[in-house]
Amino acid sequence: MSANPARQGASPGEAGGDVLPQRGARGGPAPGEPAPPPPSAADIEVRLLMEAIYLRYSHDFRDYTGASQKRRVNYALEQMGFRSISALQEQVLRDDQVFGRLLQYLTVPVSEMFRDPDYFLALRQQVVPVLHTYPSIKVWVAGCSTGEEVYSLAILLREEGLLDRALIYATDINPQSLEKARQGIFPADAVREYTANYQRAGGRKSFSDYYTAAYGSARFDPALCANVIFADHSLATDSVFAETHLVSCRNVLIYFNRRLQDRALGLFHDSLCHRGFLGLGAKESIDFSAYGERFDTLARAERIFRKRA
Ligand SMILES: C[S@@+](CC[C@H](N)C(=O)[O-])C[C@H]1O[C@@H](n2cnc3c(N)ncnc32)[C@H](O)[C@@H]1O
Repeated sequence: MSANPARQGASPGEAGGDVLPQRGARGGPAPGEPAPPPPSAADIEVRLLMEAIYLRYSHDFRDYTGASQKRRVNYALEQMGFRSISALQEQVLRDDQVFGRLLQYLTVPVSEMFRDPDYFLALRQQVVPVLHTYPSIKVWVAGCSTGEEVYSLAILLREEGLLDRALIYATDINPQSLEKARQGIFPADAVREYTANYQRAGGRKSFSDYYTAAYGSARFDPALCANVIFADHSLATDSVFAETHLVSCRNVLIYFNRRLQDRALGLFHDSLCHRGFLGLGAKESIDFSAYGERFDTLARAERIFRKRA
């Protein structure tokens, strides 16, 4: 893993978007709409910080939702001991390691195994039977964080006899999270909750069959990840890389504004095969997006959609 958290392969020029906001182009009022109130000094500082990060590291956080981004920046300030956003920006521009630390706050690397068990139960009951009809399947877990969602899907696919013919792409923009995901070691004290989730998700075995407990940790069976490719990929700046049968992108779009949500949904739509499946997080939806008409709803409460023919 590179110690430099700058994203490879995307340069600011290639990644699209304006270097500095143009009036009416990025977040400005549409013609005929009243102008929004002027941004506060703190809002401007956050935007400048995101521009600086984009220019220096090619990580594009400019279209993340304002309020929660501001909260995360303020929390990072406290934790990292900076007195102002401008002071943080100055160091971020000069020191890769400061950016690496800030990235941990900006990306919210929080996950859990079989999170929202009903989602995994619906996959098992309504999606797996269709996946069985393909000789091989490709699954994309976008924004996989530290890997809990990937291991959950791998366990489910193994129990359903599909893991051997599955290729799973697990992508994220946080290199530290990807490294943890590759290791598959999770805190033992979380396992009790994961076990309950697994059972509610229709698990067919004993959850303890999948990990070895040692020194306060649970190490998951590496064979679960034999067909998993962990890779850096940004939904904000990168493009589609494979045709897939199922995209699971949970609790990621919630941090994006409408424009970036549409970009990500466009990638998923382009990546999915004919009648492919899309799973989102419990608070996420395609209803008001540019892609609402391009998917059927398979399981509304569980947020599982199917690409329209
Ligand atoms: C709250 S976690 C969700 C983890 C997991 N999907 C789950 O539901 O448990 C959000 C993840 O989205 C990732 N993320 C944020 N922006 C992203 C982007 N532009 N492209 C890909 N992943 C992104 C973060 O690094 C973080 O790991």
